[in-house]
Amino acid sequence: MVNFLIFGPPGSGKGTQSVKLAEKFRLVHLSTGDMLRAEISAGTDLGKKMSSIMAKGELVPDEVVIEMIAAKIDSTRGFAGFLFDGFPRTVDQTAALEKMLEARGMKIDCMLVLEVGHDELVKRLILRAEQSGRPDDKDPAVIENRIDVYRSKTEPIIDYCIKKGLYKPVDGVGSIDDIFVRLSDVMKEFV
Ligand code: AP5
Ligand code: MG
Repeated sequence: MVNFLIFGPPGSGKGTQSVKLAEKFRLVHLSTGDMLRAEISAGTDLGKKMSSIMAKGELVPDEVVIEMIAAKIDSTRGFAGFLFDGFPRTVDQTAALEKMLEARGMKIDCMLVLEVGHDELVKRLILRAEQSGRPDDKDPAVIENRIDVYRSKTEPIIDYCIKKGLYKPVDGVGSIDDIFVRLSDVMKEFV
């Protein structure tokens, strides 16, 4: 099994690229944002509790996403590995993921980081707000908060992964196809 993290600020293209990469490399794409939005759409108690936090662009509690990921890891068979998108989001989530993988004889093999500047992120998310129906895209102040939360709570994971030799930065600006080739070139070395 080979396990990748796909990292980057909101709007950097994690979801867009993950769908294509998961298919190419036979990976399970696990997006905690998608899982949480599915809970909200299904009207579950968990979804109801998390929706106001997400609408503000704040992070939901670590234990909520850690439990979701653990359940998915244990229920998935027959793939080459996992592609974690939007998880981990804090240093504590990273430690929990490492522990979870280690207990199952796996590890994080590579961290792909999509690099996109602030103005391009805002431009993409404002454009998406027109079609996505995501409440956290609708308000420019929430978009700014999501970017700030990324810088303060999520970016420190990059330093942690640099120290472990997992860090692979990738230019996230350009056409979706060009970025896909850049990511695939890095991932090929691991599979
Ligand atoms: P999450 O769903 O993870 O959202 P996010 O990090 O804010 O990122 P996005 O999904 O908005 O962006 P993306 O990088 O996937 O880009 P995309 O491919 O969509 O999290 C949402 C919320 O859930 C969080 O705020 C938090 O509340 C909660 N949450 C989730 N995980 C959590 C966790 N682990 N812990 C705690 N809380 C958690 O692309 C964006 C747009 O740009 C699209 O319209 C796309 O078409 C377009 N685009 C993509 N590539 C290009 C390109 N190359 N050129 C031009 N446009 C492009
Ligand atoms: Mg996404």
